[in-house]
Amino acid sequence: MKLVVAGTGYVGLVQAAVCSEYGHEVYAYDVDQSKIDAFSTGRADEIEKFVMEPGLSNIIRETHGKSLFFSCDLKSIIEGTDAIFLCLPTPSNLDGSTNLTYFDSAAGQIAEILAKRKDKRRIVLVSKSTVPIETVRRLENIMKKHGVENFGVASNPEFLAEGTAVNQARRPDRVVVGCDHEEDFKILRRVYSQFIHHVRIKYIETTPETAEAIKYVANTMLLTYISFWNGVGAKLGEKISNVNIDDLRLGVTADDRISTWGSFVSNGAGGSCFGKDIASLIYQLRRLNVSTKMLEASYEVNEYQKVYLVDRAINEARFKFNNKTVAVLGLAFKKHTNDMRDASSIKVVEALLGKGVSQINAYDPLANATARQEFDPSKNILFEKIKYFDSAKEAIQGTQALFISSDCEEFRGFSRTIEDTVKPPYLIMDGRRMIPDYNELVSKNYGYLAVGSVVRCPA
Ligand SMILES: NC(=O)c1ccc[n+]([C@@H]2O[C@H](COP(=O)([O-])OP(=O)(O)OC[C@H]3O[C@@H](n4cnc5c(N)ncnc54)[C@H](O)[C@@H]3O)[C@@H](O)[C@H]2O)c1
Repeated sequence: MKLVVAGTGYVGLVQAAVCSEYGHEVYAYDVDQSKIDAFSTGRADEIEKFVMEPGLSNIIRETHGKSLFFSCDLKSIIEGTDAIFLCLPTPSNLDGSTNLTYFDSAAGQIAEILAKRKDKRRIVLVSKSTVPIETVRRLENIMKKHGVENFGVASNPEFLAEGTAVNQARRPDRVVVGCDHEEDFKILRRVYSQFIHHVRIKYIETTPETAEAIKYVANTMLLTYISFWNGVGAKLGEKISNVNIDDLRLGVTADDRISTWGSFVSNGAGGSCFGKDIASLIYQLRRLNVSTKMLEASYEVNEYQKVYLVDRAINEARFKFNNKTVAVLGLAFKKHTNDMRDASSIKVVEALLGKGVSQINAYDPLANATARQEFDPSKNILFEKIKYFDSAKEAIQGTQALFISSDCEEFRGFSRTIEDTVKPPYLIMDGRRMIPDYNELVSKNYGYLAVGSVVRCPA
């Protein structure tokens, strides 16, 4: 089939690459010429400047120029297309509602060109963006307004998790397709033929509105589950010294009905989706006069969780941040990515600067370059206090405290490096419980403060 993917970010580029791998002829389209130029090289170093996903550049190298093509010129690629996947950004407005500017503008550009196409075959406009429920009608109206003929609209939400996106796209747990007409379902069945009747993949056909709702309910449920562990389980471990959070987790998740995923307590969940999607659902439900107390609590717990170790350091470990040099390890919102959208580290850095630290030594194995943009001193003069390092060991040299803010494997069992590099008095703030043998450090007078445990500091 001939497919166009509009928007070559994390979702679009993975969708385009994996569809091209399955033998479709795929045209990946973006308004950002620098991205299209980089992807067109087929080179990992160029591709990963924009999207870093394990396995992705290998597929692009294999299929580029054969079944995968990149373009900024929609007009030249539109003829003969069976489906267009819209993978556009849908960020939050200040009031939590979804900003549909990119979505609308791309839909308008597509509609203008589709209205003039010569080939009048059925074409489906498929939203993979996470959009408020009923946005599919907006898409339909934009097409109608421009006089597009013989088209259908569909919702096919994306569930990928960054860092494992390629594997998930190759074998998703589910494919959700919402259409109004059987002929559109048929087109999408051909797109996803390899997933239909697969024993481990649920292929769900429903209305477009249900498909849109599935995405919001799924994401907010995941965040609520994470917030439950952080807001309840972790707190018991932090307040009662004989409650062991790791055993608590094992005991609770031994029940098949309770997921292990999300039960690992942390300094909050970041990433481009959780925060904005829950804010959007709160906004949507309020407009329907539905109580949003539960979702608001999930959101608030998660946001405060990102920084509360800094408060605990002051209140429970009696640590004074003023004029101290503090290392922040793990800047991306999780391991295996350079994406810092809504990362906990952003809140941590801001909180530390607010407490008057003299310097922050920052390190991430993949995200240092992203961090330099995120913490551009032209946005906030205090960001000048951030120095970047090429290894965790170098970053902690000369510091009086460190904060582990992501789950990069190299921070696990980091105690030896700490011991060899910095001497007590020293405070370790562990947002991911990455140092299981902390007792040894504590016995040598290091202070240790982790999510889910009481503070362990020398008397
Ligand atoms: N990133 C994730 O983990 C993830 C997971 C599931 C769903 N989603 C949803 O998928 C959507 C896309 O997310 P993303 O992370 O891929 O976004 P992104 O910001 O990484 O990529 C979006 C791309 O769209 C391009 N674009 C903007 N306007 C355009 C236009 N008019 N025409 C063509 N291209 C245009 C941008 O240049 C950019 O390359 C969002 O709605 C998001 O909520 C994201």
